[in-house]
Amino acid sequence: MAGRLEGKVSIVTGGARGLGEGIVKLFAAEGAAIVVADVLQAEGEAVVSRLRSEGARAVFQKLDVTNEADWSACVSKAVSEYGKLTTLVNNAAVFNASGLEGTALSDWNKVITVNLTGPYLGMRTAMPELTRSGNGAVVNICSLYGMIGTTGFTAYHSSKGGLRMLNKAVALEYAKRGVRVNAVFPGNTRTPAMDNLTDEENAAVLALVPMGFSGEPLDMAYGALYLASDEARYVTGSELVIDGGWSIP
Ligand SMILES: NC(=O)c1ccc[n+]([C@@H]2O[C@H](COP(=O)([O-])OP(=O)(O)OC[C@H]3O[C@@H](n4cnc5c(N)ncnc54)[C@H](O)[C@@H]3O)[C@@H](O)[C@H]2O)c1
Repeated sequence: MAGRLEGKVSIVTGGARGLGEGIVKLFAAEGAAIVVADVLQAEGEAVVSRLRSEGARAVFQKLDVTNEADWSACVSKAVSEYGKLTTLVNNAAVFNASGLEGTALSDWNKVITVNLTGPYLGMRTAMPELTRSGNGAVVNICSLYGMIGTTGFTAYHSSKGGLRMLNKAVALEYAKRGVRVNAVFPGNTRTPAMDNLTDEENAAVLALVPMGFSGEPLDMAYGALYLASDEARYVTGSELVIDGGWSIP
């Protein structure tokens, strides 16, 4: 069934590669017009030209999610290109694998600023257009690490735990104002961000996944698609875990 996002106009942050690229491709295939927003200009433009060659509607906009002026330009781009903004996917994030004492303040600030302040700025800037559309949706790409703790990733856990609460708070605030706000909680997913894991580290992660294999970007994108579509018209503040069963025990 194609066309599940017919009439939608979506910004996807971090859309130049990995999980974000998977969302961009699926959303475009389902009829949405897309603003691919990323700091990676060459990669983002390449994604857009591939989509356009397949007949999709897509543009690239350089966006650093930590920068307010970039956000204003990004929302304006969606409206000037496609006449409205119905959907925001906050997907861009950075990783940091350090534990508490190994996390320098500069690393902490970077992770919190990109992963938590970024979605806050995005929602704040996009909300006037999302409410104006009369049927808006935000999908926050969180992480299983926003629900569980491990002995590393101190700043990353904190950023995603914060995003989980931001998702709930904004969902409540806009529940009667025509904007649904939901989150996807991916488990281990094969993206460029995971490329620097050693075979040993990969095996250790997979040992924690009951289904025994890593997810692909498309597995997460299907969750985002549902939450962004009108099929989810009665769904807000929800937390869709897609993790091969990692969170069960
Ligand atoms: N890969 C996994 O196993 C996994 C697991 C759980 C959650 N996630 C979440 O999925 C999302 C995507 O992760 P991924 O694995 O595709 O990572 P990735 O590193 O492959 O891609 C992240 C994208 O975000 C962009 N980005 C980073 N900082 C940015 C900034 N300041 N402004 C704009 N764009 C920026 C990068 O350029 C890149 O295109 C993230 O929110 C991540 O936390 C991933």
